[in-house]
Amino acid sequence: MKITVIQGPNLNMLGVREKSVYGPMTLDQVHNAMKQLAEQHKAEIEFYQSNLEGEIVDRIQECYNESDAIVINPAAYTHSSIAIRDAIAAVGVPAVEVHISNTARREEFRRNSLIAPVCAGVISGFGPFSYQLALMAAMQIAGEVQAQKAQKAAQQA
Ligand code: DQA
Repeated sequence: MKITVIQGPNLNMLGVREKSVYGPMTLDQVHNAMKQLAEQHKAEIEFYQSNLEGEIVDRIQECYNESDAIVINPAAYTHSSIAIRDAIAAVGVPAVEVHISNTARREEFRRNSLIAPVCAGVISGFGPFSYQLALMAAMQIAGEVQAQKAQKAAQQA
């Protein structure tokens, strides 16, 4: 099982950026914790971060037939990017949207996600632990999809 983790703009600044909102953990530390969890579940995991919308779209497209699930923090693009939403819908790979902060209790403009309607679900507000929860959800969904595919193949055989 392969999970792709995609991080949007300014998340490379974790540990420096608005620590009172996002905490002191760096992106590398967040990824190391996810890597450990993935290893415990024998899942392969890949990480990608970009500040550019088009590059994020490209990385999502690369998940087509390559990844079993996506964990994505689209960061500020959550609230603006139709292109990222369309890319997730296009590839048909189950995606979990994740946020470090609880976007529902922040500024009005953060309360709407253009991405959430094409995701399996959203995890928001648990600090860096949000990522581990999102990874658990992604592995669960990917496992279910794999089981469904295996069942279909067995029926056709
Ligand atoms: C964020 C929330 C977004 O509103 C913000 O633009 C971010 C981070 C979060 O993880 O809490 O960059 O996605």
